[in-house]
Amino acid sequence: MIQRSALLNVMTAAAQKAARGLIRDFGEIEKLQVSKKGPADFVSTADKKAERTLVAELSKARPRFGFLLEEGGEIEGADTSNRWIIDPLDGTTNFLHGIPHFAISIALERDGDPAAGVVYEPVSDQMFVAEKGLGAYLNGNRIRVSARENLNESLFTTGIPFRGKEGHEHFLKHLKAVMEVSSGVRRFGSAALDLAYVAAGRFEGFWETGLHPWDMAAGMVLVREAGGFVTDMKGGDKILETGEIVAANNQMHGTLLKILADAGR
Ligand code: IPD
Ligand code: CA
Ligand code: CA
Repeated sequence: MIQRSALLNVMTAAAQKAARGLIRDFGEIEKLQVSKKGPADFVSTADKKAERTLVAELSKARPRFGFLLEEGGEIEGADTSNRWIIDPLDGTTNFLHGIPHFAISIALERDGDPAAGVVYEPVSDQMFVAEKGLGAYLNGNRIRVSARENLNESLFTTGIPFRGKEGHEHFLKHLKAVMEVSSGVRRFGSAALDLAYVAAGRFEGFWETGLHPWDMAAGMVLVREAGGFVTDMKGGDKILETGEIVAANNQMHGTLLKILADAGR
């Protein structure tokens, strides 16, 4: 166990407060599945409520910081160096279907670079935290990316594009290439948790395209602080700009990049 920084304390306290509301609302979902209208409006309200709680808590602790919010967009702060990048509910489709795999994702961006990240999975009470230079932790215990070096033993996770998203054909090429040579590919439905699980050494790697900064910023810090690599599809650092991400342990990162590049040609 380590002594957490004041910054991470602020972030985890906000996540826990918002999570209490999400858990309560998640408890209602099952009842709503049977109604004609379905739970969609209810979930969208829960999502916005969680975001409001996060903004209120973080503003109380750091009144000068700005925000980039999935639901509320940009809020400029007096301090132009620091802004929070927030997804109040990552894994909305899971939440909507009563599947307990979703998270709150909070990153602190400092001068354009993600500097701290918290990804909290409320149902299983898993709090993933990381701060630049200070390592990555799960519920107070240090985490590291996996040490697996063999592709045929490696497990990957990804996001499948769905209705309204681009790149369906391209994705199928990528999936075919990775599934043929690896130990398996999973699709769990929360990019923030995919990244947190790579940081915890559960998956060797993750790739997805068409993402937004709030899906990735916190998880990027987690993977890097756990000793992994995170780049865009070209191996560069334009992750937040392109919405493309390839994150993996150091052995698998280059390999995964090459497989995806060769398949996408
Ligand atoms: C989604 C999840 C999902 C990913 C989608 C995202 P949301 O975020 O992270 O895993 O595949 O591209 O949009 O909508 O649940 O916040
Ligand atoms: Ca998201
Ligand atoms: Ca979301």
